Amino acid sequence: MKKIGYVAAECVPFIKVGGLADVVGSLFKIFKRNSYLFLPLYKKIKEKFKIKEIGEIEIYFTDFRKEKCKIYKTVDFQNVIFIGNDYYFDRDEVYGPEGKDYPDNIERFSFFSRSICEICKYLDIKIDVFHCNDWHTSLLPLYLKLFYNDFKRNTKVVFTIHNIAYQGIFPSEKFSILGLPSEYFSIEGIEFYGDINLMKAGIIYSDIITTVSKKFADEIITPEFGFKLDGLLRKYREKIVGIVNGIDYQIWHPMLDEYIKRKYKTLKGKMINKVYLQEELSLIKKEDIPLFSIVSRLVEQKGIDLIIEKINDLMNKNIQIVILGEGEEKYKEKLSEISLKNPEKFCFIQGFNEKLAHQIYASSDFFLMPSRFEPCGLGQMIALKYGSVPVVRKVGGLYDTVKDYEENGWGFTFYKDDEFIPTIERAISVYNNKNLWERLVKKCMELDFSWKNSSQAYKEIYESL
Ligand code: ADP
Ligand code: GLC
Repeated sequence: MKKIGYVAAECVPFIKVGGLADVVGSLFKIFKRNSYLFLPLYKKIKEKFKIKEIGEIEIYFTDFRKEKCKIYKTVDFQNVIFIGNDYYFDRDEVYGPEGKDYPDNIERFSFFSRSICEICKYLDIKIDVFHCNDWHTSLLPLYLKLFYNDFKRNTKVVFTIHNIAYQGIFPSEKFSILGLPSEYFSIEGIEFYGDINLMKAGIIYSDIITTVSKKFADEIITPEFGFKLDGLLRKYREKIVGIVNGIDYQIWHPMLDEYIKRKYKTLKGKMINKVYLQEELSLIKKEDIPLFSIVSRLVEQKGIDLIIEKINDLMNKNIQIVILGEGEEKYKEKLSEISLKNPEKFCFIQGFNEKLAHQIYASSDFFLMPSRFEPCGLGQMIALKYGSVPVVRKVGGLYDTVKDYEENGWGFTFYKDDEFIPTIERAISVYNNKNLWERLVKKCMELDFSWKNSSQAYKEIYESL
């Protein structure tokens, strides 16, 4: 078995903003016997985990950029290496406040990638395959190729695109801080319409590109979903593989979940959680009002606009909606307003809240994901295990994982905005038929979206390189 080095800006259980953390955490857990995990040492990690400094090195980028890197481990987990630099990482957020980026993210994450190469050399860790994730880590294959040829020998790089909407785009003036030869600021390198595009480095210089569902692998090579990288991705399409994400059922399972009011395996047990949550959130306490939920980052991708646009249609129905989310200010303001206007039917809870997220999956009847695009999506698969029926737009991983009820499936799907309300109505009519509903919830809970098949697919890729 090869030695894998997982490189990511977030990873469960250390730090999480979205699904990236769940996925990297699952893969590291599955392959941990042979792997290392590299993470920035953020303030939140320092506060939560017992860490130990094991060394300090200096990283030279250019004559004017030289940074100190402290190396840390934790006593609780083996082979986890934290990259420490308080100036870059001792901040409240991972990427920046209110869904926005810190302006020096290019420096923070180039430092992260470069440090990992140096640390492996310094500690003499021989990695066979680096598995890099998203733009925050995409310089690593380029640094490896340019500066570590002697040391790297046969090291290969897998680059996974979790979200192509975030590409690490920065103004050209910042190029000099990366410590790269000037010819790399070109169309064949990381130049992109006059700016720097860090994701390009991952696409060009890695050995294999994976993305997180088959449908999304097809979508990103089209202008509609490629976010202007579709041309480049078409050029490299031979090395792109779509592997759907899985769910860690040790964390997400209604029979094992310590966060929820009552563990359950039937609809009856689930109802105890529902009524408890209704009470906690001051909604009307009633089992047979369909409860729709969203647990999400509040960004354009997630289709929150559609909920806001259709709010009157939704509030005219005998339903309840619960939304837990953190992100852009404009969505938070609007959702709070709606919440104030409809206190017994609509509840918006702002923030990132792990416990409440679990309780919402366990309590709701339906889970909404009207995403504009969705590389994979974990929410819908988590919801299924908790018997919360997904209502989703047929894009990306949602297309691959949710089959419509009318096709003998386990969810309700739509594509165009004007199909949304009719889809909600279809969903409610099944909900109102007790027998059909019980059968559907049971079917959802029995589906298997574990990592079994997908981890095997990753293993085959690692071995093939
Ligand atoms: P994305 O990675 O695009 O955010 P996913 O559906 O793949 O979307 O994964 C989202 C993950 O983050 C899920 O585990 C979900 O439960 C979690 N999550 C999202 N928002 C919150 C929040 N406000 N509080 C707690 N967990 C959240
Ligand atoms: C991204 C995507 C999401 C995916 C997650 C994990 O954040 O938006 O669809 O499930 O990464 O791969």
